[in-house]
Amino acid sequence: MPSTRKALAIVLAAGEGTRMNSDTPKVLHKVAGRSMLAHVLGAVAEAGVEAIAVVVGPGREDVRGEALRLSPDARTFVQTDRLGTAHAVMAAREAIADGRDDLLVLFADTPLVSGATIRALRDALAQGAGIAALGFVAADPFGYGRLLQDDAGRLVAIREEKDASDAERAVKLCNAGLMALDGWTALDWLGRIRNANAKGEYYLTDVVEIARASGREARIVLADETEVLGVNDRVQLAQAEAVAQDRLRRAAMAAGVTMIAPETVFLCPDTVFGRDVLIEPNVVFGPGVAVGDRAVIHAFSHLEGASVGAGANVGPFARLRPGAALAEEAKVGNFVEIKNANLGHGAKVSHLTYIGDADVGANANIGAGTITCNYDGFFKYRTVIGANAFIGSNSALVAPVEVGPGAYVGSGSVVTRDVTADALAVARGRQIEKAGWAASFRVAQAAKKTKK
Ligand code: UD1
Ligand code: MG
Repeated sequence: MPSTRKALAIVLAAGEGTRMNSDTPKVLHKVAGRSMLAHVLGAVAEAGVEAIAVVVGPGREDVRGEALRLSPDARTFVQTDRLGTAHAVMAAREAIADGRDDLLVLFADTPLVSGATIRALRDALAQGAGIAALGFVAADPFGYGRLLQDDAGRLVAIREEKDASDAERAVKLCNAGLMALDGWTALDWLGRIRNANAKGEYYLTDVVEIARASGREARIVLADETEVLGVNDRVQLAQAEAVAQDRLRRAAMAAGVTMIAPETVFLCPDTVFGRDVLIEPNVVFGPGVAVGDRAVIHAFSHLEGASVGAGANVGPFARLRPGAALAEEAKVGNFVEIKNANLGHGAKVSHLTYIGDADVGANANIGAGTITCNYDGFFKYRTVIGANAFIGSNSALVAPVEVGPGAYVGSGSVVTRDVTADALAVARGRQIEKAGWAASFRVAQAAKKTKK
């Protein structure tokens, strides 16, 4: 079984991605908040592959950096000239020469392939096949290599579009590009590939005929077309995003999250939900968000790098930025922004407020329009608000500053000094009243107007 077999995965990421029309290399474009390369490396890890080689284009330190960030033990190789997929695989010749049971080849611009599918390719080798190719039935096969079968349905060759006869072009069963090869003979087979074809390239796909000529079985593993979607331009990038989001939503709902309009909720692969979370329409979850049991995320909220405690309530129109940590039963209401701040159990920040670099104690109540003034143009400072404190509406808390537990701050205050526990601080102009002033003002002004 595959558990005892060792595998090397070669991820081809040397493509130029011309059709992306981008300064960013294609494989670093993101799907569901994560680079396409990261998705592929994630699937490879899921499939229990212990050695990874990534083939990058010349000078692509950024691609190399992303590969090493995600798989620190990966080896990277540079393909200087782009002479075809087999040539790209051979750039990692040294890694192949180490010798492992399974050699897997993946494309970094095919980001939706699952770990289970990679395992299925490995299983085919474990069952004796010399090579396994991932196939799919294409709605429109144009441009893909076709999987050619004999009468018994066995894979005999892969024919590229440009080299195919009319009869071969009629075949709808296509090559997704992913392959598993017997790791002990792969190097020998790959070395025999020539470039006498329509494109003058070294086609990895030729390895099927070579393996069969040496008496080994070639197998087809079938995948769904959505899983093997290759991204060449930004329309396909958006299609991949749609497929990825659909998967994430289904997984969240299967785990007990209610979404009123799932097609309007955007998730990241690392979004974590408890049970019975309710998400209203039009909510965006960026990377690093965890939401506890029974929390409600109201419409039009945006969360990133934030944790929401059980039973907490967020939005509508709330923004939780990195470091926002809401304890259980906390409430963040409309037009409220929270950044790098802890809200204690049951604390309420209900309207029109900015809380940044702060600690808000349990059951504190932050009035409408409160602002923590956390930045002086050079440094950030912390605001500490004790449990059960009450901050009157439209107050500015100029950090560093501390409002003690149970203290009150009068509405409209600009608080620059610490407030003692259970005290009242009022820091605003004192109200004066002149009796009858308005009435006499009106009489005088009216008289002036008549004179004119
Ligand atoms: C390839 C397959 C084709 C399959 C299709 C699926 C071959 C010969 N053909 O064709 O059967 O249906 O994928 O999408 O394998 N790359 C390099 N260096 C190179 C050439 C390619 O790194 O010199 C990388 C590309 O960046 C890409 C992948 O390999 O990630 C596939 O290359 P591409 O040129 O897109 O191959 P296709 O012609 O689409
Ligand atoms: Mg392609």
